[in-house]
Amino acid sequence: MSEPLVKTEVRGRVGLLTLNRPKALNALSNEVIDELAQAMRGFDADENIGAMVLTGSEKAFAAGADIGAMQGWTFMDVYKKDYLGGNWESLKRIRKPVIAAVSGYALGGGCELAMACDIIIAADNARFGQPEIKLGVIPGFGGTQRLPRAVSKAKAMDLVLTARMMDAEEAERAGLVSRVVPASRLMEEALDAAATIASMSLPSVIMAKECINQSYEGSLSDGMMYERRNFHALFSTEDQKEGMAAFMDKRKPEFKHR
Ligand code: HXC
Repeated sequence: MSEPLVKTEVRGRVGLLTLNRPKALNALSNEVIDELAQAMRGFDADENIGAMVLTGSEKAFAAGADIGAMQGWTFMDVYKKDYLGGNWESLKRIRKPVIAAVSGYALGGGCELAMACDIIIAADNARFGQPEIKLGVIPGFGGTQRLPRAVSKAKAMDLVLTARMMDAEEAERAGLVSRVVPASRLMEEALDAAATIASMSLPSVIMAKECINQSYEGSLSDGMMYERRNFHALFSTEDQKEGMAAFMDKRKPEFKHR
């Protein structure tokens, strides 16, 4: 049997997904994204999983969409198939948190895939960029939308228009990355963070993720109302009773809904 393009592994309550085209620096063909979306949906539906980590190889998280595959495509090919609107866009519907553990290159679609995750933890050798302009195209999966929200308009313009890469330290300063860790500690740190998330009550984890994502979509007052209603809803759960009782009793909570 041939090697999977995305390897999956379960570590406790964490689902680990590893992009597995190392020779092509994890170039993101449609087949890779199909496998990734299917594996993520599987973990999302699995009651024993509370969070996921997505990673690549030491040299590359992913160096972008597959240029060899795209090279011959015409407008009609991509338009009729709505390239990026199907399997790529479906990643947005994953409800459980996904941490991108980025080592090496995260370029083009690779940077956009990391940004589609909920948290980016970067190794100190990570390099982020949107070099599509050098190929005569532009980013297609959030490089002109998620990136300016994460790092400011000025820096997004700089990265997208010049195609330069930024290192992990700059990415953290700019707000794209939540933590930078030594490359040797990347997986430990990402898996620990995911395990911590997976130990919380799942309804509050999912609602917190949805509320933060909502803050990118509409007005502040709509977002505040969305948050408040979700906050109210959590008072209907046994886990709210347990979490608050555990605090008062000075013990660790035993959440039922994980
Ligand atoms: C297909 C790729 C690839 C890619 C690397 N490879 N990136 N194949 N698509 N995006 C392949 C190379 O062809 C090569 O294959 C092998 O991986 C190793 O790459 P090298 O270039 O030899 O490695 P190196 O010299 O170390 O340079 C690393 C690099 C460079 C700086 C990351 O590979 C590079 O610039 N890659 C392209 C980055 C890019 O432009 N990304 C944006 C893609 S467009 P062989 O067979 O020769 O060994 C995009 C659109 C997004 O992402 C739209 C939404 C998804």
